[in-house]
Amino acid sequence: MIRVGDTMIPMARTVAFTLDGQPASAPEGELLVHAAARHGVFIPTLCHDDKLEPYGGCRMCVVGVEGSPRPLPACATRVAEGMVVSTDSSVPQYQRTLTEMLLAEHLNPDPGGRPNELVDLAEELAAEAPFILPDAKREPYDDRNRFMGYDPDACILCNRCVRYTQEVMQCSALSLEGRGPHARIVPTHGYSWLDTECELCGGCLSACPTGAIYEKFEEGTERPERTLEKVKSTCTFCGVGCQIDLNVDPETQRIVKVTSEPHYVSNEGNLCVKGRFAFNFVHHPDRLTEPLVRGEDGELHPTTWEHAFRVAAEGLLRVKEEHGPQAIGVLSSARLTMEENFLIQKLARTALGTNSVHSCEAT
Ligand code: SF4
Ligand code: SF4
Ligand code: SF4
Ligand code: FES
Repeated sequence: MIRVGDTMIPMARTVAFTLDGQPASAPEGELLVHAAARHGVFIPTLCHDDKLEPYGGCRMCVVGVEGSPRPLPACATRVAEGMVVSTDSSVPQYQRTLTEMLLAEHLNPDPGGRPNELVDLAEELAAEAPFILPDAKREPYDDRNRFMGYDPDACILCNRCVRYTQEVMQCSALSLEGRGPHARIVPTHGYSWLDTECELCGGCLSACPTGAIYEKFEEGTERPERTLEKVKSTCTFCGVGCQIDLNVDPETQRIVKVTSEPHYVSNEGNLCVKGRFAFNFVHHPDRLTEPLVRGEDGELHPTTWEHAFRVAAEGLLRVKEEHGPQAIGVLSSARLTMEENFLIQKLARTALGTNSVHSCEAT
């Protein structure tokens, strides 16, 4: 048992199993794909996403398990005591054949410059499309929203996007439509993304392994995502403080997209529409980039931070002396962090002597 707060939680039992002839151990019930990774055995996946429930749809991660009549998906099989697992016999050939089958109808590997895990896998396995299926071409999809596009010719129907929107966003904005060569992922009932429950968070886009769902705009760049410089930052739009990567075009030094990684603390790679798509303000010509102080002429003039702070402090102290501390009110913001809001109320109560502190988002 381990203690979490006041609660005792039973610890998972460790079980012993065999992996490629070597003894291995794992907490009982751990997914085989994770247990293998901890033992240095990489099992490729395509439809698997750690944020989502085990699915086992694409079969890319199959492994041999003694006693099983057929290979089992490592992303949906849990380790059990005495299991004998093999990834080194017929498995690589199986993965290569599966990759070739997917490539045979993968007509557009790069609709929007996003990374493509299928292409990466094909390179790793030295797999090439043996031919292109005659009915590989699917009906194109055009959506009137400005942020996200979808190219059925890049889609491998892994369902990650649909599962993301259902399991993480708890909505039913996307569904799998049609069968066989007509199958596509589309906003539910054939509506536009804009006419569904979709909040344009871009989560389905980030979950897509092939880039079939992609950012429609890459302001001023044709560069693939992997050639952009990533600068780690914090979203400035609200106090959740999601961790983001600003993707900067190295040539123009402009931010052209925002991404986030599943291991980032506080948001685990999830973003809302503001954090993911509303970054153009950074380069807007009207944006204030330096402090301004009003001069004798009544106009605002650029100055140093030291001078701006001094002018603000002198002004506040003058009001306090002339009218008393209750003449001063402090407006804070839910867009700041909790720590910054704490400091602001401290400044108001202890330095300025007023309890009139409010958050502009509170009403
Ligand atoms: S953008 Fe977000 S809300 Fe919209 S379909 Fe994708 S995951 Fe669902
Ligand atoms: S759009 Fe992407 S995530 Fe959705 S099914 Fe197609 S390949 Fe998978
Ligand atoms: S991405 Fe959305 S939720 Fe996250 S900090 Fe930005 S505005 Fe807040
Ligand atoms: S990754 Fe395991 S079945 Fe798709």
